[in-house]
Amino acid sequence: MIETNDPRLMGRAVERIAFDETAIRDRARELGAEITAAYPDGELLVLGLLKGSFVFLADLVRQIQRPLHVDFLVASSYGEATVSSGNVRLVYDPETKLEGKHILLVEDIVDSGRTLQKLMELLRVRGPRSLEICALLHKRIATELHHEVRFVGFDAPSEFLVGYGLDHAEDFRHLPYVASLR
Ligand code: PRP
Repeated sequence: MIETNDPRLMGRAVERIAFDETAIRDRARELGAEITAAYPDGELLVLGLLKGSFVFLADLVRQIQRPLHVDFLVASSYGEATVSSGNVRLVYDPETKLEGKHILLVEDIVDSGRTLQKLMELLRVRGPRSLEICALLHKRIATELHHEVRFVGFDAPSEFLVGYGLDHAEDFRHLPYVASLR
């Protein structure tokens, strides 16, 4: 356990910093290079799933050295429940046409995989040229996801993680690192 005086933590102590700024920056650079190499041609649309992906997406796209467009998805899944209901629906649908494009879906964390599985089903029917997932964190417990996560930042420990887009009751999304909350 580390005590920190970071004013962003509102007095909450973090158990540990799981991934610090340097580690995340280095990994985002590597992922950007991997993604650049994976798409030698065609139109690439990077789709960020809000809200959790917004910080990662902003850093990631700046490491991709080829033309691309960015759009976002907002899905509603958990509602009032703490566990995903599986009833994922789009509350914001991208304006951009997906047909014939390489679609790269960007997510902050894959947990049960329910959200991504439903989104993949919803997006696949729109006729993209390819459809892949890039997740900053992967818990490797996603029994619900029947699609490989092609680009993974880090395997995530089974701790309650916040920061770099991930929240606890909407707090802590703006931490520049990923921490586990005590
Ligand atoms: C979180 C996270 C993923 C999803 C992962 O989103 O950002 O989208 O849950 O869980 P799963 O693999 O079990 O489906 P949340 O619904 O908390 O919304 P947020 O992105 O706005 O934080």
